[in-house]
Amino acid sequence: MKGIILAGGSGSRLYPITLALSKHLIPIYDKPMIYYPLSVLMLAGIREIFIISTPEHIPLYKKILKDGQWLGLEISYAVQEQPRGLADAFLVGEEFIGGEKVALILGDNVFYGQGFSPVLKEAANLSEGAVIFGYYVQNPQEFGIVEFGEGGSVLSLEEKPEKPRSHYAIPGLYFYDEQVVEMARNLNPSTRGELEITDLNREYLKMGKLKVKELGRGFAWLDTGTYDGLLEASNFVGTIQKRQGLYIACIEEIAYHQGYIDRKQLLRLGEGLNNTDYGRYLRKVAGCEDF
Ligand code: G1P
Repeated sequence: MKGIILAGGSGSRLYPITLALSKHLIPIYDKPMIYYPLSVLMLAGIREIFIISTPEHIPLYKKILKDGQWLGLEISYAVQEQPRGLADAFLVGEEFIGGEKVALILGDNVFYGQGFSPVLKEAANLSEGAVIFGYYVQNPQEFGIVEFGEGGSVLSLEEKPEKPRSHYAIPGLYFYDEQVVEMARNLNPSTRGELEITDLNREYLKMGKLKVKELGRGFAWLDTGTYDGLLEASNFVGTIQKRQGLYIACIEEIAYHQGYIDRKQLLRLGEGLNNTDYGRYLRKVAGCEDF
C-alpha cells in the first residue's frame, strides 16, 4: 500500500502564525507537525509516501524530509495549486498511486494510543473497499460524521452537519482499494466547490464496501486547527514523553524498529541533532549507555 499526506491549504484559521509558515511545520512540542501523520503511515508499514502541498511550502518539506532515504522511505512531492478538496488528492496523486491501494492522512492530524499499530496494519491489509475510523467528540458539527446502527453497521455519513446525528467524527485517516482514483474522478464538487472525502466514502458505503472502525475512549485524536488545540496537543505530547521517557511520533525510532534503517544510521541521525534531547533520545533508542 502507498500513502499520501495532504498538507495543503493556507492555514488561515491560524493567522498570524501561518502568515509565513506552513501549518504542518508548526511544532507540536518538540517536532514539526508533519512528523505525526508521517509516523502513522510508517506504523502502518507504508514506505512509499507522497506529500501534497502548496507551491511555496513544498521546498520546506523537501528540506526536512528530502527523498526519505535517510528513514528508509521513498518520499515524493506534488503541488496542489488550489485547495480542491481532500478527494482531489487521488487525482493529483494518480500517477504515484499507479493503480495500487492507498492510504490518505491529513497533515494536521495527530493520533496516539495503545494498540494503534495493529489497527493500522490491519487497515493497510484491506483486500477491497475502504476503511475509515470513528471517534467520539464533543463538537461533531466541525467534522465528517458517521452514524452507527445496530451491531456497528453504518447508517449515514455527513460532512459538518449543523445538526449531527451522532458524536462520532471521522478522523483524517482513510484507507482505500485500487478503485479510489476512478471513484474520486466520478465525484461532483460540493456546494463549496470541493471534492469531498465524505462523498467518496458515501460511494463506498453505497456499494457495501465501507468499514468504519471505532477508536475508543482510551485513544487520543487531537485537534491542531486552533490556537488552543496546538497548545493542548503540545502539552499532551510533552506530558507523555516526560513521564515515560518514550517519544511520540519519533520517525527515526520507528524507522529503526521497523527495520528500515540500521543502528549506524540511527546514531548518525542522533549526532546530527547534537545537543538536543531529541538527539540524545535517538542515542538511547540505539542502546547507548550515556543517556
Ligand atoms: C476534513 C474532512 C472531515 C474530517 C476532518 C478531520 O475537514 O472534510 O470529514 O472529519 O478533515 O480532520 P477539514 O478539517 O479539512 O475542514
